[in-house]
Amino acid sequence: MGFWKTWFSTPEAVATTKTTPFEEHTAETAGNSSPGSDTSGTGRSAERIVFSTDRDIDLYELEELCDAVGWSRRPLRKVKKAIEHSFLVASMWQIRGNQKRLIGFARATSDHAFNATIWDVVVHPDFQGQGLGKSLMKYVLKKLRSEEISNVTLFADPHVVDFYRTMGFMPDPEGIKGMFWYPH
Ligand SMILES: CC(C)(COP(=O)(O)OP(=O)(O)OC[C@H]1O[C@@H](n2cnc3c(N)ncnc32)[C@H](O)[C@@H]1OP(=O)(O)O)[C@@H](O)C(=O)NCCC(=O)NCCS
Repeated sequence: MGFWKTWFSTPEAVATTKTTPFEEHTAETAGNSSPGSDTSGTGRSAERIVFSTDRDIDLYELEELCDAVGWSRRPLRKVKKAIEHSFLVASMWQIRGNQKRLIGFARATSDHAFNATIWDVVVHPDFQGQGLGKSLMKYVLKKLRSEEISNVTLFADPHVVDFYRTMGFMPDPEGIKGMFWYPH
């Protein structure tokens, strides 16, 4: 029971973490965004960062983004299926004039009621270290919270545990262990 109490209190803790400049700008420009997307950015009209939940993502562009951070390639037909069957797909774009570039991605699977698990969080190396990964995660958490999902989990690579920790994620809350099964 204590375990669930801990998890249900996590998103509020996330909501109180410090706001990045990108999100402040999001609030200012939200009225200008197209349906299904939220805008944020550098404050220069020529260049903006846009967040979207649109699933219509060019799989080759997504593959390029994943290549850029050194992830192993996955069959595109399976990536397509995973996107189609995800509960939430979040993407982050750099907009320059009428050109847009995919610079970040994350998705979540869910039981649509209590639980969601976040997968494939990635920010292009050219855009890392500017608070955008955190903005992307806050965007995902905001969307999940708006669907009344309160128990959010993810599997962190060892080198990014502290990245997630800054947003209120806890490893092994109350001793709970993630367990894995792989085919032999
Ligand atoms: C992990 C990743 C998404 C972070 O994106 P980012 O845009 O560089 O992160 P941010 O600039 O928003 O950083 C947010 C905070 O996390 C910290 N942080 C970022 N990357 C970190 C890392 N690898 N380890 C520890 N802390 C990290 C930052 O210092 C910052 O802390 P602050 O809020 O105290 O200033 C990005 O580095 C990435 O795509 N990595 C490759 C793919 C990957 O490993 N994904 C995770 C799979 S589980």
